[in-house]
Amino acid sequence: MVTLQNKRIVLGVTGGIAAYKSADLARRLREAGAEVRVIMTRGATEFITPLTMQAVSGHPVHQHLLDTAAEAGMGHIELARWADAVLVAPASANFLARCAHGRAEDLLSAVCLATAAPLAIAPAMNRQMWAGAATQANLDTLRARGARIFGPAEGAQACGEVGPGRMLEPSELVALTASLFASGALDGLAVLVTAGPTWEAIDPVRGISNKSSGKMGYAVAAAAAEAGARVVLVSGPTALPDPERVATIRVTSAQEMFDAVHAHIAQVEVFIGVAAVADYRPTDAAKEKIKKSAERLTLELVRNPDILASVAALAPAPFTVGFAAETENLEANARAKLKEKRLDLIAANRVGAGDGGFDTDENALLVIDRDGNKTELPPQSKTRLARALIQLISEKYHAAKQRRQTQGRAQDPRPAHRH
Ligand code: CTP
Repeated sequence: MVTLQNKRIVLGVTGGIAAYKSADLARRLREAGAEVRVIMTRGATEFITPLTMQAVSGHPVHQHLLDTAAEAGMGHIELARWADAVLVAPASANFLARCAHGRAEDLLSAVCLATAAPLAIAPAMNRQMWAGAATQANLDTLRARGARIFGPAEGAQACGEVGPGRMLEPSELVALTASLFASGALDGLAVLVTAGPTWEAIDPVRGISNKSSGKMGYAVAAAAAEAGARVVLVSGPTALPDPERVATIRVTSAQEMFDAVHAHIAQVEVFIGVAAVADYRPTDAAKEKIKKSAERLTLELVRNPDILASVAALAPAPFTVGFAAETENLEANARAKLKEKRLDLIAANRVGAGDGGFDTDENALLVIDRDGNKTELPPQSKTRLARALIQLISEKYHAAKQRRQTQGRAQDPRPAHRH
C-alpha cells in the first residue's frame, strides 16, 4: 500500500487543462496520509478554482507572493521549510522555464527556489511544446539539479493532438511521490527499535514510569521502514498508534521489554534503543492495592537489566545505537555512555525545563560514533530528525561493515558484527 504517513506535501498547480485533475490528486495524497498545502499560480486559477482546491486539501490555498496577509500566515519561506516534498502537477512549459532559470516572481517559483525539500515535477503540455528545444533544455537543467520529472504520459491531448505531454494519472503521481521518500539506505536490513517509557508496577493500580511519549522512537521506527528496513518496534505504554509497515510489540515493564528484544535480536543487523527504560523497579509488586495506613512508606527498588548494554555485549552483536537523555554535560556524559555500554553510536539530547526531548514535537541530537566523531543534527521536527538519524546510521553501518571487510576480523577487538 502506498503511504505518505506524516509527510508534508506542497502541491503546486500551474495553468493547464490538466489542473482539473489536481483536485483528485490532492484528495489522494491526503488519503495516503499526507498533509497537503496548495499553491496555485494565476494561470491555474483560470482552470480550477482555489475554492475547490481549498475544499479538497482542507486548507486555504496560497496564491500570492507579495500579499501581506498571506505572508503573515505562512509566507514563502515558511512554506518552503514546512514541505517534506514539493510536487508541481501539472507543470506548464512556462513554469519549467521559470524554475530552470531560478526566477522568483511568483509564489510557487519562489518556494521551489527556497526549499531544501525534494522537488518533483509532473509536466503537462502540448506535445510540440514538450518536444521544444527550450523545454528539453530546461528539463535537463532541472534534472541536473536533482528535480524528479514524473511523466508525461503519451496519448490523446486536450488540444486534439496525440503524443507525449499528458499529465500522469493522480494515482501514479501519488505512488511516485511516495517513492521520493524511499531512500533505500537500509534496504535488505532488519532493524529493532525500542521506544516509550516502561511501567514498573508498585501494586495493581500504581507504578513508576517517566515522561517519555514514545514520539522519537516511533519516528525512528517509521524512518527505518521508509529507508527500506524490516522493522520491529518494541514499545512501552504510549498513546501513539502503531507506525505503518512496522511490526509493533507492546510491552509494559523493562523486564518484558528485555525479553521481547532478546526474542528478536538474533534476526536483526541494527538495534536502536530509544526507550526511556526505568532503571529500577519495586522489589515485589503488591498483589492487592496498597491501603494507606502508616505515615511513611518505604519502597524498595532493584535494578532493571540494561537492555542496550546487554545487546551490545552479544557476540555477534548487531550495530548498536543508544540514546542519552541528559540534563547537563551532554557531550561528556554521552561519550562515557558510548564507551561503558560499548556502543557503535550514541544520540544525545538535552532534556529538562525549556529543552526539547520528552513529549515535545521538536528535538535536536548530538551523535557520536565509536571513533569519537561528532555530528550535530539541528532542532527540527522529530519526524525529520529521525530521517536524518537513520541516514547517519545507514552511513555508519555501511562504513563499519566496509572497514571490517577490509581490515579482517583479527584486528578488531570487538566481537564481530552481524553484517
Ligand atoms: N537503556 C536500556 N535499558 C535500561 C536503561 C537504559 O536499554 N535499563 C538504554 C536507553 O534506551 C538509551 C540508553 O540506554 O538508549 C541510555 O539511557 P539513559 O537513561 O540516558 O542512561 P542510563 O544508562 O540509564 O544512565 P543514567 O540514568 O545514569 O544517566
